Amino acid sequence: MAKNKQIIRFGIIGLGLMGREFGSAAARWCHLLNLDFEPQIVGICDSNPALFPWFADNFDTVRIQTTDYRDLLASSAIDAIYCAVPHNLHADMYCDIIRAGKHLLGEKPFGIDSEANARIMACVEDNPQVVVACSSEFPFFPAAQRIVRHIQEGRFGTILEVWSGLLHSSDLDPNKKINWKRMIAINGEYGCMGDLGMHALHIPLRMGWMPRSVHAQLSNVIRRRPDASGQLVPCETWDNATLSCRVTQADQDFPMYIQTHRIAPGETNTWYLRILGTAFSAEYSTKQPKTLRTMNYASGAEQAWSVLDLGYETAYPTITGGIFEFGFSDGLLQMWAAFCDQLVHGREGMKQGFYCATPQETQQHHRVLTAALESHRQQAVITL
Ligand SMILES: NC(=O)c1ccc[n+]([C@@H]2O[C@H](COP(=O)([O-])OP(=O)(O)OC[C@H]3O[C@@H](n4cnc5c(N)ncnc54)[C@H](O)[C@@H]3O)[C@@H](O)[C@H]2O)c1
Repeated sequence: MAKNKQIIRFGIIGLGLMGREFGSAAARWCHLLNLDFEPQIVGICDSNPALFPWFADNFDTVRIQTTDYRDLLASSAIDAIYCAVPHNLHADMYCDIIRAGKHLLGEKPFGIDSEANARIMACVEDNPQVVVACSSEFPFFPAAQRIVRHIQEGRFGTILEVWSGLLHSSDLDPNKKINWKRMIAINGEYGCMGDLGMHALHIPLRMGWMPRSVHAQLSNVIRRRPDASGQLVPCETWDNATLSCRVTQADQDFPMYIQTHRIAPGETNTWYLRILGTAFSAEYSTKQPKTLRTMNYASGAEQAWSVLDLGYETAYPTITGGIFEFGFSDGLLQMWAAFCDQLVHGREGMKQGFYCATPQETQQHHRVLTAALESHRQQAVITL
């Protein structure tokens, strides 16, 4: 264990896809340079004990293994929790975690619906001493960080339009088996928006681009899928959502399109952000993970896009040379550094300025997603 570092003793609830990603990020903390804090995985919890051995085999710091998350909350050996469980469990678990005084990095959407999110928000407000944040890693990609800086510098002139999205394609296969993310009772009525919406909305909301109106195009393309036994069962969740929003901020007034698609042919976890302005434009997609495209414009000048390969330019310095590529697990590691930094130093004392998605931002994103459902029901533009 590294010396002169504040150890943050973590419990993980939910040891599935994302729980293991956090374990892996914690295991390569040495990748990050010059930090005075470090997470240590002390407790693990999942209702499926078959997931314990991977952690037990790889982390000799694990002291508590349990199928009941309350065991982690009752332990004085745990300071903070990472919670990555299905959406129907968010409100109860997040509230119990916060009330137990444990700091929380919770997964999106931070409640299965706006009512569940409101319950979590009430606990956040009642417990201001607890640090609470929502997982969202794409803004930590080097090009995303650059775009954020360009927005904060006011480089875009008059913003013409913004596109932000997250695209998947594996659901194009009608024989892909159903899982909880395609069931309304567990994933929520938001469907793909609840799963992917925070990824697309995090930077816009951080920039103050809360939509004032939303018009939603929602599609449920594949309505039945095989279950584990091969029998066809209803698949009721929205596969694709495109939200056409209007944003007004100071002297800016522009359309913003939010795309969350599970059936986007050929796309594999493609996160993108495209901002077009009269003085400057920028676009980035994880499809070409190094490449940031920008265009400066001054009256009468030629209109030529520039292409810049950014390399490994990170919010928190690492051992990786700047000539190498950045990827998904690197984004998670950076996000984790930001959460631990905020926990140890407070938001004002962080080593860099981009903090994790806030509970208030999750509340705003719920307002947008709830308006999208209403827009679909009424087939109308909803004013927020
Ligand atoms: N940040 C991202 O990029 C990202 C990506 C995928 C999923 N997620 C989010 O992470 C969360 C989990 O998704 P996942 O893909 O890891 O799901 P998963 O199904 O792989 O893992 C969820 C785990 O929770 C466990 N679980 C269920 N009920 C439990 C209970 N009562 N007590 C303890 N454990 C329980 C399950 O056994 C499972 O192992 C969701 O909120 C999802 O939206 C985030």
